[in-house]
Amino acid sequence: MTRGATPVRVAVLVSGGGTNLQALLAALRESPLARVTRVISNRPEAGALGRARRSGVPATALRDPDDAAELLAALGDAQLVVLAGYLKLVPAAVVSRFRGRMINIHPALLPDFGGPGMYGQRVHRAVLASGATESGATVHLVDEEFDRGEIIGQEKVPVIPTDTPESLAARVLEAEHRLLPRMVLELARRIR
Ligand code: GRF
Repeated sequence: MTRGATPVRVAVLVSGGGTNLQALLAALRESPLARVTRVISNRPEAGALGRARRSGVPATALRDPDDAAELLAALGDAQLVVLAGYLKLVPAAVVSRFRGRMINIHPALLPDFGGPGMYGQRVHRAVLASGATESGATVHLVDEEFDRGEIIGQEKVPVIPTDTPESLAARVLEAEHRLLPRMVLELARRIR
């Protein structure tokens, strides 16, 4: 078998409903480059786990998301790790094992509007309160801190004067669903 023939094995970490996971599953379904091979959550009730199971992808919930050994075991033979709405800090031992091969999507234009506690509606409220005229989605490499790793891709969207946190979140989420699959395929090309 020639090197690189098999798709890159992608593990996705989730905490929420999983619309980014759904976008990734759809984008990679026929891809020779990358394939979602497992989904892992810190919350057994996360809607994203149901999306994975309906797509025939193995899905597990962690007993202790701070336990590096448990997470490494759950990641198994994954070659690329994607945080898609995962709200826990990844243990340092796991970050170092996947340095340069673990990415996160954030619903704002980092380095602004990121960091501990900056997730969901809080992000969009902060963007609106700042008077910013644009927002967007960011994909970055994961390191030992929330939302601080090297930025590898962004997609900007306008902030409209009549925006609410909900309407801005919806516009940013559409950009996320375009940006994340694109960045996963780009990283898979680099890894192969
Ligand atoms: C997304 O906005 C993502 O950027 C953020 O959490 C949200 C998750 O949404 N980190 P979903 O679970 O993928 O629908």
